[in-house]
Amino acid sequence: TKIQATLIPGDGIGPEITQAVTAILDHMGKPFEWDVQQAGMAGIDASGDPLPQATIDSIHRTKLALKGPLTTPVGGGFKSINLQLRQEFELFANVRPTKTIKTDGRYDNIDMVIFRENLEGYYIADEGYMEHDGDPQGKVYSTGYNTKQEARRITRAAFDYAVANGRKKVSIVHKANILKLLSGMFLEEAREVAKEYEGRVDCDERIVDACAMQMVMYPEAFDVIVTTNLFGDILSDLAAGLVGGLGLAPGANIGKDAAIFEAVHGSAPDIAGQQKANPCAFLMAAGLMLEHVGLNDEAGRLKKAVIETVQAKDRVTPDLGGTGNTMSIADAIMDRL
Ligand code: NAI
Ligand code: MG
Repeated sequence: TKIQATLIPGDGIGPEITQAVTAILDHMGKPFEWDVQQAGMAGIDASGDPLPQATIDSIHRTKLALKGPLTTPVGGGFKSINLQLRQEFELFANVRPTKTIKTDGRYDNIDMVIFRENLEGYYIADEGYMEHDGDPQGKVYSTGYNTKQEARRITRAAFDYAVANGRKKVSIVHKANILKLLSGMFLEEAREVAKEYEGRVDCDERIVDACAMQMVMYPEAFDVIVTTNLFGDILSDLAAGLVGGLGLAPGANIGKDAAIFEAVHGSAPDIAGQQKANPCAFLMAAGLMLEHVGLNDEAGRLKKAVIETVQAKDRVTPDLGGTGNTMSIADAIMDRL
C-alpha cells in the first residue's frame, strides 16, 4: 500500500530537482503515490493563484507534502507562501538536521538538529510606518510575540526528539538578557519543560550571539538546539554552511495535522533551467519524509546512497566540485541504490 503525498515541484530549479528526486524514488519502488500540485510563481502561471485552493485541499487530505522551493518576490507582490503554509497547517516546528557529509569540509563530526519555532517571534512581520521628524514614513516598526503554549510545544518537540533518537543534550538558545519579555518568557517556559526530562536528556542555555560563535568554533559541542523563529532561521543556515552549504541541507515543517518537507535552499533563479542544480537537499528532504512515515530502512538506504555519492564525487554537480549535472548525480545515486 502506497502512502499518499502531495508533491509541489515549485519554482526556478524546483522542477529539475523534482524530476531527479521522483526518478530516484521510483527506482526505490515508489513509496509515495504523488498528488502533484502547484504553488508559487508556478501556481500563478497555472491558475492565477500563488497558493491554489486545490493545493491546500490536497495537503489537508494527504497530511504529507514534499515541497520544492517557491520564489517570493521581495517587497510588494504576495505574502510568502511558505509563511501561509505554516499558518494554514499550524506547522509549529521547523526541524533541520545538520550532519557532516563532505570529507573535505572544515569539520568532520558535526551532527546537530535545530528545532526552530515556526509560527511566532520576530518573524511574523507585523510591521508599519510611523511619523518621524516630519516624515509620515520616517520611522518603521516591527513587532513580534511569543506564547507560553508555543514555547512549550517546540521545546517538548525538541526533547521528545532527543529521547526518541538517543540524543544526549538540548541547548536552549535565546536573547533573554536584552529581550527580557519576548525571549525571557521563551527561556522560562523552555526551562520548565526541560525539568520534565531531567536525568534523561541534558540541557544547557546559550545566548544567541555567543552561540553563533560557538557553533563556528566548536560545532561538535552541539546536539539538539531549540530556539525561536528568527534565531533559528539564522542559525540553521549557519549550520548548513558548516557542513558544506545549502546543496545538502533538508528541512521538515512539522505540524499537529500535517508535515511539509523541503530543501533549505531557494529556487536559485541564477542557475534555473540549466541542469546545474544539486538535487541532494531535496532528496534528503524526501529521506526525512520516509522517516516521518516510519519507513526507516528506506530512509537509511537513501541517505547512505547520497552520502557515498557525494563523498566519492561521482558525477556530482558543480556546487560539489564536479562537472556533472542534476540527472547525472541522480544516476550515480540510483546506481548505489
Ligand atoms: P537560493 O537558495 O535560491 O540561492 C542561493 C545560492 O545558492 C545561489 O547562488 C544558488 O544558485 C545556490 N543554490 C541554491 N540551491 C542550490 C542547489 N540545489 N544546487 C546548487 N546551487 C544551489 O537563495 P536566494 O537566491 O536568496 O533566493 C532565491 C529565491 O528562493 C527567492 O525568491 C527566495 O524567496 C526563495 N527561497 C525560497 C525558499 C523556500 O521555498 N523554502 C527558501 C529560501 C529562498
Ligand atoms: Mg531561511
